[in-house]
Formats: sequence, structure tokens, C-alpha cells
Amino acid sequence: MKAAVISLGSQSSVLVAEAMKNYFSSVDMLELKQIEVTLGKEAGVWYAGQPLSSYDCVYVKGSFRYAQLLGSLVTLLEGKVPYMPLKASAFTIVHHKLLTHLALQQHHIPMPRTYVSSTIDAAKELLKKVNYPVVMKFPEGTQGKGVMFAESPSSASALLDAMGVLKQPVLVQEYVETEGTDIRALVVGDKVIAAMRRKAKPGEQRANIHAGGTGIAVQLEQKTAKIAVAAAQALGAEVCGVDILESPLGPVVIEANISPGLQGLQKVSSLSLADEIAKFFYAKTEEALKKKNKNVAQEVLQDLGKDMLIQEIVAQLQFRGERVLLPEFVTQLAKLQEQKEYIIRAQKGKVEIREM
Ligand SMILES: Nc1ncnc2c1ncn2[C@@H]1O[C@H](COP(=O)(O)OP(=O)(O)O)[C@@H](O)[C@H]1O
Ligand SMILES: [Mg+2]
Repeated sequence: MKAAVISLGSQSSVLVAEAMKNYFSSVDMLELKQIEVTLGKEAGVWYAGQPLSSYDCVYVKGSFRYAQLLGSLVTLLEGKVPYMPLKASAFTIVHHKLLTHLALQQHHIPMPRTYVSSTIDAAKELLKKVNYPVVMKFPEGTQGKGVMFAESPSSASALLDAMGVLKQPVLVQEYVETEGTDIRALVVGDKVIAAMRRKAKPGEQRANIHAGGTGIAVQLEQKTAKIAVAAAQALGAEVCGVDILESPLGPVVIEANISPGLQGLQKVSSLSLADEIAKFFYAKTEEALKKKNKNVAQEVLQDLGKDMLIQEIVAQLQFRGERVLLPEFVTQLAKLQEQKEYIIRAQKGKVEIREM
């Protein structure tokens, strides 16, 4: 089985690609920056100017800055590549916090109360009614950089004005008191394979490692793990980092990352995370190929059924003891049914089955 990892070449991507080499017969490490997608009549994916080779498994990773390319690439590969861990839609949804919350909402996944309003003035009205502190986020921010906290209506109003000048849309969100901590859970398939609790550095409310936060291993409660898996599934991602706040009322999801860094989590986990991911990809690719082959066989049978000229094959008979098993195409072409009755006539070297 052939696989490819298309990425920006981060250390995590290299780790996963290397681990995949222990399972797949070949693994190509391709640079996202060398990918081009053409839409229209001769739609296609190009790598370094050449049509992309065919693969059984393609793992696509990259930052939000490449969301358009990532989404286009995976959309064109869907249906052609037997297994990809991320749906094309995930690339548009996950890179935008409002779209993420909407997808989570549709799947009834708990999240902090989040407000969407039409204009800055409408948001200001809203800010008179909410509890403080309140959180404001740029929908496309990452690494904690687009997250702001306002302690009072006046500071919230000033922040809104600043965003109005920048012509930036903003999400207003309820503040969840967690003493500056959050949970990062790494979901692979239907399991959380590693999790850590991140704590913001003193004087900081954002727990992101990039904002100076530190992580310690944590054993998630079953309920929290279930929510992380449900969130990943809602977003169409089979490998995904899910960020969770432990609110007094239970876990709430704040965002997901479909290109999760592994180094931080690896430090607090005894499993080899890259190996777990590679092993999972291999099993899923094998499963997808089996399904594909079964579908091809079914299509051939259907074609046989359509083209009534093909009614014969040369084959050996399958015996079960003294009985004979007929091939599936016989049942399909002759439209044999269990509840009907048939006349079976046998003579030396010849059998005829006829509907009554
Ligand atoms: N509603 C909230 N209440 C309290 N803290 C929050 C809230 N939302 C985010 N944070 C803190 O800010 C950090 C960054 O927020 P997040 O939504 O994950 O954005 P980013 O994409 O920048 O990581 C979180 O890890 C968490 O520590
Ligand atoms: Mg985050």
C-alpha cells in the first residue's frame, strides 16, 4: 500500500511519515507548497508541476494560512484516494472558530455560550447584558494570538471599537473559569490516545504552549474523552487535537486542531504517538481498500447483469461436501430468489434451473 504525507514539513509530520514507513510499502513526504490545484474542465492536483501520483492513503496537514489550498486539494482527492483521515470540509470548518462552533452545535457538543451579532453596535448592546469577564476572539486566530479578555463593559466596548477599525469580525464568548488551564486531547479514530492539562504562565489567561503555557499529563474522565471524540467526528477529522475547558458544569469544547503538534503531548505520554497514528492509518487504509474491491466486484456483477450477452464464465465448481455452490453472478443474473420455487433438471454434464 502506498501512502503520502502532504505537509509543511513540520517535525510532527516527519515523525508520522517515518512511523508510517513501518507499515506502508512506501511513504512519500510531499511539500504542501509545491502543490497546485486546477479546477474546471481539466481539474487536477499537481505536485512540482506533475500530476500527483496515485496513493492508497494521503494525510494532508498544514496551517490555517493554507486553508484554501488544503480544502481544494482534499476535495479533489476525495473519492480517488481510498483513505484520507480528514474530510475536505474539515479544512474550512476547523480553521474558523465560528464554523467550528456551528458544526459542534449541530452535533450537540457542549461549548461555552458564544454570541454572534450583526454589527459592532449590536455587539455593544449585547455586551451590556453578559457576565464579566468576557472573551473576544478573532475567528481565524491561533496560538492564543486572537483571544482577548475584557474585565468590564467599558474595556469590552473599547476592544470592539478597535476591532471595528481593523474591520475584523469577532466572536464574543462567555468566560469559563479554569484558573488559566485547558485540556488538549489527541483523538485518533474513536479514542483519545493522549491528553495533557495546559496551564497558562503567571499573569496570563491563555494556556497555549505558544503563549508560555506548560503541559502535564492528565487521565481524562470518560465523559471528557467521549466529548473529545464526538467533537473530532463532528468536524470530520479522524486525527485531531481537541481543546477543552473544564467548566464547573462539565467539559466544553473551544476548538480543534487538525494539524496537531505531537512533541508537547509526546513528552507526557508513554505511547509512541506517531506510531499509534501510523498504525491506525494502515488499518483504515486496508479496510477502505477491501471495501473498494468489494464495490468493484459488485459493479462488475451489475455490468454483467446489464449486458445480457455475457452469460457464461469458465470456472471450477465450488463443492461443499457433495453439494455445489454456484457463483454470485448466477444468482444475480438469473435473479434467483429464496422464496420462489424452481425446477432443477440434471443430466450428465449439464444442470438446468428454471422458475416454476
Ligand atoms: N471561553 C473561554 N474562557 C476562558 N478561557 C478561554 C476561553 N476561550 C479560550 N480561553 C483560553 O485562551 C486560550 C486560547 O483560546 P482558543 O480558543 O483555543 O484560541 P487559539 O486558537 O488561539 O488557541 C485557551 O487555550 C484558553 O486557555
Ligand atoms: Mg487553542
